[in-house]
Amino acid sequence: MKRTATSILILAALVFGGLVGNALAQKPAPTQATGERVATAATAAPVNLTLPLKTDSVRFLAIGDTGTGTEQQKELADVMLRYRQAFPYEFVLMMGDNMYGGEKPADFKLKFENVYKQLLDDKVKFYATLGNHDESNQRFYKDFNMNGEEFYRFAKGNTAFYSLNSNYMDKRQLKWLEEELAKDASDWKIIFMHHPPYSSGGKHGSSSALREVVEPIFLKYGVNAVFAGHEHFYERVKPQKGIYYFISGAGGKLRPGDVKKGSPLTEKAFDTDMSFMLVEVAGDELHFQVISRTGQTVDSGVLTRQQPKAKPLNASHPSAAPAGQEQGNAAKP
Ligand SMILES: [Fe+2]
Repeated sequence: MKRTATSILILAALVFGGLVGNALAQKPAPTQATGERVATAATAAPVNLTLPLKTDSVRFLAIGDTGTGTEQQKELADVMLRYRQAFPYEFVLMMGDNMYGGEKPADFKLKFENVYKQLLDDKVKFYATLGNHDESNQRFYKDFNMNGEEFYRFAKGNTAFYSLNSNYMDKRQLKWLEEELAKDASDWKIIFMHHPPYSSGGKHGSSSALREVVEPIFLKYGVNAVFAGHEHFYERVKPQKGIYYFISGAGGKLRPGDVKKGSPLTEKAFDTDMSFMLVEVAGDELHFQVISRTGQTVDSGVLTRQQPKAKPLNASHPSAAPAGQEQGNAAKP
């Protein structure tokens, strides 16, 4: 009898416990309608860093075509934040199309400040370039760090960065670029601009007219790598005449399936979700890791610095500053 009573108690406990457990499991997850952020697969994916984190390396993130303010852009920003714990990048290169649609202060808040609030609070600097959707006046927006210039240069450690306005590659800009590169003794010379000189995109493809005017200068002065956006996907192009080309343009929008299958340009491409790039320049090596909105590593590797194509004429841009120290923007003529 005692045994029967005990069995009933155990049975009751199991049934009741099961019901409670079931009820907890079935409790609806918070949704966007409630205003709460939903725990997505992206925020749940483990961080898996492939970058070496070498001493005194230059560490940055590259992302493009961000200016939407969508939930997907925020999900990608969440992954960017999580990777910063493992890879404390100091700054972000923006590939343009920083603002789609309106460009009022409320738009900057919605499409940039709110999305990257934590990074901005952590003093991560964003360096923008202008895309075809961007008003020139963005150059005055302080958090884009363009210092009022449509094209500008800055340096970190052994690496110089040139932001070009690929919307208008006029003589004045080309002259400035040549003059700056000619005196640039940095180990790495990296260009970032909106339109890609090489691309396997079906919608846009290579910006050939732009390439005709900039590529000879890149080759003459030993540009090492070029980052672009405009295409809403990721592509690592096979080295072209020795120069490395990346497209990282899926930071706020995605054009799924747009990379032409079998393109002879493609070394690696990813066009099924949004993504960003992490880059670490360490000595003669450029390490990169590309991460999707769901936290997957979709490309990674290391590239070796090419031999300079030409000696700089004079070294007024010395490369001796320790990593992390900025040498300041060069003024345009
Ligand atoms: Fe664009």
